[in-house]
Amino acid sequence: MILAPMAGVSDVGFRHLCSYYGADATFSEMLSCRAMLNNPKKTEFMTKFSSEEKIKIGQIFGHEEEIMVKSLKSPLLSHYDIIDINMGCPAPKIVKNGEGSALMKDIIKAESIIKSIVKSNPKPTSVKFRLGYDKDISCDFAKMCEECGVSFITIHGRTSVQGYSGKVNLEAIAKVKASVKIPVIGNGDVVDKTSYLNMLNTNVDGVMIGRGSQGRPWIFNQLVDDNWEINNYEKFTAIKKHVEILRQNYEEKWLTLYLRKHFLWYTNCFPNASKVRAEIATSSSIDKSLLLLEELFCK
Ligand SMILES: Cc1cc2nc3c(=O)[nH]c(=O)nc-3n(C[C@H](O)[C@H](O)[C@H](O)COP(=O)(O)O)c2cc1C
Repeated sequence: MILAPMAGVSDVGFRHLCSYYGADATFSEMLSCRAMLNNPKKTEFMTKFSSEEKIKIGQIFGHEEEIMVKSLKSPLLSHYDIIDINMGCPAPKIVKNGEGSALMKDIIKAESIIKSIVKSNPKPTSVKFRLGYDKDISCDFAKMCEECGVSFITIHGRTSVQGYSGKVNLEAIAKVKASVKIPVIGNGDVVDKTSYLNMLNTNVDGVMIGRGSQGRPWIFNQLVDDNWEINNYEKFTAIKKHVEILRQNYEEKWLTLYLRKHFLWYTNCFPNASKVRAEIATSSSIDKSLLLLEELFCK
């Protein structure tokens, strides 16, 4: 069970909770190789980690082979157990630089980058990618990764141009799994027991969860153990832990805005909480939001 990399979401407090609630491995948010070398302060805040995290995977992105290789020596990557290369991000500002999923349009370049990183990285290397940029080339891409010496791959069953539309293509994930010997992590649309079992049916070696964990870091335990339960008081205790860890690491002013989205996701389990949600969405005090959440979860 693996927590997906989610830029702007999978902060150290969130990764702590997901690990505490059953994630065996956690990905960092994607880290720019160029920024790690030229402006490490800008990246440092994303590389904080918790002792609760088990296998820590640092995800890097870039398009310049030399810079990507150089970045492996950055002290910011020293605590990660595995280095993952992002070849799946569909965000326009990443793709226009030839990074993320744009590398799936140029398999020769992708191969060269992966080979160089595998050669220079003293730790295991993995690659996370989609089915392709605008068409499904996933089996060829997976085989190329395997031939380059990658330790495992993660496949999100959509093309880049699909973004998040439509449904994850489980058949394509099953084909990728059958086409290589290295472990394959399946990713896309796992949000409940049914979608989790459907993903396992593709025969993948591990399941990655992204959006399904937002507001529900306990989803990992819930999916693997039908008898595992969490009550609202425990959920609120977890939310307080999330805040406590972030307060140890970040400034209150930045956090106040940052935490709003997490707080709103946490309220999703209360469909009739629109008044509280409206107050949290505009709250300029974390403590005030926590009081509102306490009222909701513990009354
Ligand atoms: C807010 C957000 C940020 C993301 N950031 C990254 C990222 O930094 N690196 C990456 O490889 N994928 C990123 N993704 C993609 C997820 O890791 C995952 O592949 C995708 O959400 C599909 O999985 P899901 O259906 O479980 O959410 C992001 C997704 C979301 C929703």
